[in-house]
Amino acid sequence: MLTLGIESSCDETAAAVVEDGRKVLSSVVASQADLHAAYGGVVPELASRNHVVKILPVVEEALATAGTTLDRAGGIAVTAGPGLMGSLLVGVMFAKAVAMAKKIPLVGVNHLEGHLCAVRLEERHPEAPYLGLIVSGGHTSLYLVEDLGQYKLVGRTRDDAAGEAFDKVAKLLGLGYPGGPVIDRMARDGDPKAFRFPRAMPKRLEFSFSGLKTAVVNVVRSKGIPEGGRLFDLVASFQEAVADTLASKTLLAANKAGVTDVVVAGGVASNSRIRAVMEDRCAAEGIRAWFAPPALCTDNAAMIAAAGYPRLVRGENHAVDLTANPSLEL
Ligand code: KG4
Ligand code: ZN
Repeated sequence: MLTLGIESSCDETAAAVVEDGRKVLSSVVASQADLHAAYGGVVPELASRNHVVKILPVVEEALATAGTTLDRAGGIAVTAGPGLMGSLLVGVMFAKAVAMAKKIPLVGVNHLEGHLCAVRLEERHPEAPYLGLIVSGGHTSLYLVEDLGQYKLVGRTRDDAAGEAFDKVAKLLGLGYPGGPVIDRMARDGDPKAFRFPRAMPKRLEFSFSGLKTAVVNVVRSKGIPEGGRLFDLVASFQEAVADTLASKTLLAANKAGVTDVVVAGGVASNSRIRAVMEDRCAAEGIRAWFAPPALCTDNAAMIAAAGYPRLVRGENHAVDLTANPSLEL
């Protein structure tokens, strides 16, 4: 069965065609990053207006690349939340219109469940139970995945999300938006031990990144933005503190729950250093760490199709009553 996935929760308009919930036939992502870069973050009004412009061409491109048409789609899965209301509405309304006009079953998907399901698009992936860490621009949360579709929240951030910390630090240092990919690249040439940055609440499953952000702000306040190699050292030390914190808490949660697999998902999971640290620290404790390929870690619609597929197969259809919910919980 072909599933058409649609994602528009933040600043990416995305559509994908996935076969039997596993095989990605196409995954098209139109990023608005350039549009928001001048503001150092996403401007909701601009985001929703741009989704309206992009949604149809993006869906058409996804269908064409997959060599198929809407008539052959067995179901549609669309992100229903969480996210920006105006952005979510574009995807949800578009999906409902198509589903009703073409009589195709439609399910709404939780964006966070989508992130966790990205790893299912890989040939090899773990079966539940496992520990899922979602690290994105809006969320930093640990879930015990007890079964397919059964999630128990075991820890979350009390302030900034990890991706938000990357973006804010990059903005402070004048490195542009989004900050994650730039810091990832620059940190390769820096010394991660050059600056001593705090790791918040090491024995707890709760995250906090505001203290780390303030520590970077204090460096800049007292000495200005470092120049040359010191700037690379600064971002490397910041990134190391994030990687260390994420790995420690994920391992703590995995050991508490008695599971031997962890899945790291969301845009920040594409960070090369975070992947390496997580892999090493998990391996040392006999735990397997799983990641989707970087292109499926950041927002995309293939992960939404993967998450919606089992429900479409069960016969769910919400073409008429689906609504967007900006604060949808997992
Ligand atoms: O999952 P995502 O694409 O969108 C949300 O659902 O939020 O995550 C976007 C976040 C941004 O904060 C971005 O800076 C961060 O993921 N990000 C990264 C990297 N690539 C994207 N953070 C660290 N390293 C990266 N390579
Ligand atoms: Zn996301």
